[in-house]
Amino acid sequence: MATHWHIETDAAKITWLHLDLAGSSANVLSAAVFQELDGLLTTMLAAPPIGVAFVSDKSSGFIAGADIKEFQTIRGREDALALVQRGQRIMDRIEALPCPTVAVIHGFCLGGGLELALACDYRVASDDPKTRLGLPEIRLGIHPGFGGTVRSIRLLGPLNALDLMLTGKTLDAQQAKKIGLVDHAVPMRHLLDAACQLIHTRPARRNPGRLARTLNTKVARPILARHMRRRIAAKAKPAHYPAPYALLDLWRRYADDERRMLEQEAESLAALSTTATARNLVRVFMLQNRLKAAGDQHTFCPRHVHVIGGGTMGGDIAAWIALQGLPVTVQDQRTNSLAATVQRASTLFTNRLKSKQQITATMDRLIPDLKGLGLRRADVIIEAIFENLEAKLDLYRAIEPHIKPDALLATNTSSIGLERLAEGLNDPGRLVGLHFFNPVAQMPLVEVIRGQRSREDTVIRALAFTRRIDKLPLEIKSSPGFLVNRVLASYLLEAMRMVDEGVPMAAIDEAARDFGMPVGPIELADTVGLDIALSVAETLARDYGFEVPQRLRTMVAAGSLGVKSGRGFFTYEHGKRVRGKRAGPAADPDSIQARLVTKLVDEATACLRDGVVKDADLVDAGIIFGAGFPPYLGGPLHYCNTRNGSAS
Ligand code: NAI
Repeated sequence: MATHWHIETDAAKITWLHLDLAGSSANVLSAAVFQELDGLLTTMLAAPPIGVAFVSDKSSGFIAGADIKEFQTIRGREDALALVQRGQRIMDRIEALPCPTVAVIHGFCLGGGLELALACDYRVASDDPKTRLGLPEIRLGIHPGFGGTVRSIRLLGPLNALDLMLTGKTLDAQQAKKIGLVDHAVPMRHLLDAACQLIHTRPARRNPGRLARTLNTKVARPILARHMRRRIAAKAKPAHYPAPYALLDLWRRYADDERRMLEQEAESLAALSTTATARNLVRVFMLQNRLKAAGDQHTFCPRHVHVIGGGTMGGDIAAWIALQGLPVTVQDQRTNSLAATVQRASTLFTNRLKSKQQITATMDRLIPDLKGLGLRRADVIIEAIFENLEAKLDLYRAIEPHIKPDALLATNTSSIGLERLAEGLNDPGRLVGLHFFNPVAQMPLVEVIRGQRSREDTVIRALAFTRRIDKLPLEIKSSPGFLVNRVLASYLLEAMRMVDEGVPMAAIDEAARDFGMPVGPIELADTVGLDIALSVAETLARDYGFEVPQRLRTMVAAGSLGVKSGRGFFTYEHGKRVRGKRAGPAADPDSIQARLVTKLVDEATACLRDGVVKDADLVDAGIIFGAGFPPYLGGPLHYCNTRNGSAS
């Protein structure tokens, strides 16, 4: 008797294998799921039906992938190898069924789930927006291991298959159909019929074409692999992220012999899964889920959002909210701020959306609102005006009588304590911070700031709203610099101190990038704006005794504000850095890295001690998703503990 699989044989003698993992909202390929399937396959191999269709009974999707919790229990290479070989064996048995097999896909079909679908003869997918197909294992520091490398390349050819695996991107049904990953992309109501038809008509299986076969030859592979390696190297170093390189090697060396490639796929995955990178990336994935869960506990469905202040942040926040499907009015006292907001939003929507229709509909949701007419009907109001206490207090006094009694009022302040801001309100409990990061569309984190007087339901709704707009919420105690800016400031100021000591700026940035930071601290300070960096530093100097380098004050006084003024530590033309010759004394990258990272880790530790967030994992999550700390290290505190030998 199966617990997770339900078997149904229809009048046409097709066997429908329904997966419905007990006790879970999503299907994953756990040990129990595999074990039951193995038994079912034995029966079907002995007495094959007319056809077999794999379907999911979960509304969430087909199969989300292998069971990550099991992955975390892997103790060593042998363990990993056994796990991978078990998966491979089952996929091989599906492939060996003498009757036609089809995967019926609706919702997500990821990782091991897509590998199972690839082991079938055919795949049909619903063209519902929820349907996403992909092999995102690379994001966990591994590559597909249940035969997915071999079968995806066989079906799609090396270019499309490697692109899917190296980027970890997901495709909708139409995109999947276009590259041949599914045979049909049909409306949900035709999905089962499409599956039956494939079983009855047994069309020839797809062949990726002559070009794909040529690119897969012994002669072409090394050339293409070299080219791809260069592209990967521009983004990730092999020492930090070995999986993409291992995948390329696997293909380059073994693609002539599928059996051999399967063996080596298992070996390679077993080796990767025990690396610190893979363990840390799984940790980061879990941290991300934890942040999501904090916002998913409650539903809050605002019908209208009003943003006040349509400058750099407010404009981009409003555009993001419209992109997430909510109507939003954006109010500013200056028409040119609103014009710039609309312009930037149009670029964002054009880059992110596929059809003209979608772009127009999204533009229609973003309403410039010079007079603030949207205020009265808003369920969420986000204030993003100048960073000036008096200006913000005046605004709150002016708007409070006009807003809905239960509207959520949020400020995007980056440095003013919520307690001081709440003084401008008759109902201080309704105020919360929603601290977005710049650039809004790229930074996944939003710090949800709980002031001493913020009401519980205010904070809960702010967390839920953050999820509604597809950001990661992190609850923070209101304190100077909150979490991310406080830690980043300590690191940036150390970099500026090194500049004062004569260390070449380019060497400082290079050392940080070599460590895995997305940009160097000097370029980051220029990008954030030196005026903003100075104002945060001064707040932190007052409250925590941070030392503000004189050079920073002098530069701001002289109008050198970074990218926005064309000159900061570096020089910029049209927002792009002008690169001069590298000059200056030789610098030791290790000692630069050590100084920068020590400052960052020390401040992260201080935040934990001060209770800025609830625990060490949340500090790590904040610094990874808000400050770009390298995910392969698992977060600053985790990194520090690992280095000191107290964590794995
Ligand atoms: P900004 O100067 O680009 O934009 C402020 C906008 O508010 C201007 O367009 C101004 O016309 C408008 N404004 C001022 N008073 C107003 C009022 N009473 N009514 C309507 N509109 C008004 O400033 P930015 O950088 O967007 O910052 C806004 C807030 O976001 C500040 O609190 C800042 O600390 C915070 N923040 C800034 C970040 C950044 O990287 N710039 C990052 C995170 C937070």
